[in-house]
Amino acid sequence: MSYRIQSVGRAHAKILSGLHHDCFPKGWSHLEFESFFERTGVFSLLAYQGSVPVGFIICWLIEDQCDLLSMGVLEGHRRDGVGLMLLLQALDTAKHMGAGEMVLEVNVNNKAAQTLYEMHGFEAFATRKDYYTGADGKPVDAVCMKKRLN
Ligand SMILES: CC(C)(COP(=O)(O)OP(=O)(O)OC[C@H]1O[C@@H](n2cnc3c(N)ncnc32)[C@H](O)[C@@H]1OP(=O)(O)O)[C@@H](O)C(=O)NCCC(=O)NCCS
Repeated sequence: MSYRIQSVGRAHAKILSGLHHDCFPKGWSHLEFESFFERTGVFSLLAYQGSVPVGFIICWLIEDQCDLLSMGVLEGHRRDGVGLMLLLQALDTAKHMGAGEMVLEVNVNNKAAQTLYEMHGFEAFATRKDYYTGADGKPVDAVCMKKRLN
C-alpha cells in the first residue's frame, strides 16, 4: 500500500511523540511536541499508510535557516522510501517558507540517516562533541550537515 504525507500541527503532538518514542532510545513527550508548535516557524509532516501514521519529520525555520529537529520512520516501514518522501517534502516546504538552507545534527554512528542526507545534497560542515548520550549512557558526537536551498 502506498504512503501519503500530511502537514500536521499541535493536535498531532501525541502521534508525533508515539512515533518519536518508537524511533529513538530517548523519546520526546507529547508536551515537548506541543511546546515546539508554540514557536513561530515550526512545521511538521506525518507519513501515513492508509490511516496508520508510520513516519514523521519536524523542522524549525528561524529567519532564513531551517533546522531539521528530528525525523523517523517505524522499523517495519524502513527502506521503503518514506524517509525520502518526508525529507523532500520538508525541503520543499522550507524553501516555500523562505529558507535559504537546511541544517541538522546527526549521531556520528547513524550511517542510515547520514546516507539519506548525503544522497540529497547535505554536506558535513562541523562536529559537535558529546552532543548525544548513547544507549550505554556514554557521550556521542554529532555531525552537523547543511544543504543550500537556492
Ligand atoms: C533514517 C531513517 C529516517 C530513514 O528512513 P527510511 O524510510 O528507511 O529511508 P528511505 O527508505 O527513504 O531511504 C532512502 C535512502 O537512504 C539511504 N538509507 C536509508 N536507510 C539506510 C540504511 N539502513 N543503510 C544505508 N543506507 C540507508 C539509502 O540510500 C536509501 O535509498 P535506497 O533504499 O534506495 O538504498 C530511518 O532509518 C529511521 O527512522 N531511523 C531511526 C531514527 C533516525 O535515525 N532518524 C534520523 C535522526 S537524524
